[in-house]
Amino acid sequence: ETNKTFTMIKPDAVANQHIGAILNKITQAGFKIVALKYTSLSPELAGKFYAVHAERPFYKDLCSFMSSGPIVAAILEKDDAVASFRKLIGATNPAQAEEGTIRKEFAESIEKNAVHGSDSDENAQIEGNFFFSAFERF
Ligand code: CMP
Repeated sequence: ETNKTFTMIKPDAVANQHIGAILNKITQAGFKIVALKYTSLSPELAGKFYAVHAERPFYKDLCSFMSSGPIVAAILEKDDAVASFRKLIGATNPAQAEEGTIRKEFAESIEKNAVHGSDSDENAQIEGNFFFSAFERF
């Protein structure tokens, strides 16, 4: 589907009390919340979620960071959702993120970058299925 994407509010942004502000920006930008969950990833689950990055030098740190505290997972709906959401969150490295983006406002570093956004329609579907059953989508 081209009208869905998947996001997580990462442990840094949850710990910094930004859940409400980030969800507000997302809904203000016209995304509908299809599914929403406050949860956490074990190191094993983080490793599975980020398996595509297994060969990257930052993989181990990323998995320990992503399992360091609670997260918010969500499926979002909007036309051209993947690209539109990536524009809203800004560059992976907050130092390069544009003014007004979620990462510019809330991210701490390239690793602790506040939010995840799927990079393709295919991954949006895989990532949404990782967290949500059919009964948890509206
Ligand atoms: P995201 O794009 O959501 O998924 C992969 C994550 O890996 C990315 O966000 C960052 O949190 C992290 N990441 C990407 N590149 C680097 C890097 N060069 N150093 C550390 N962490 C990174």
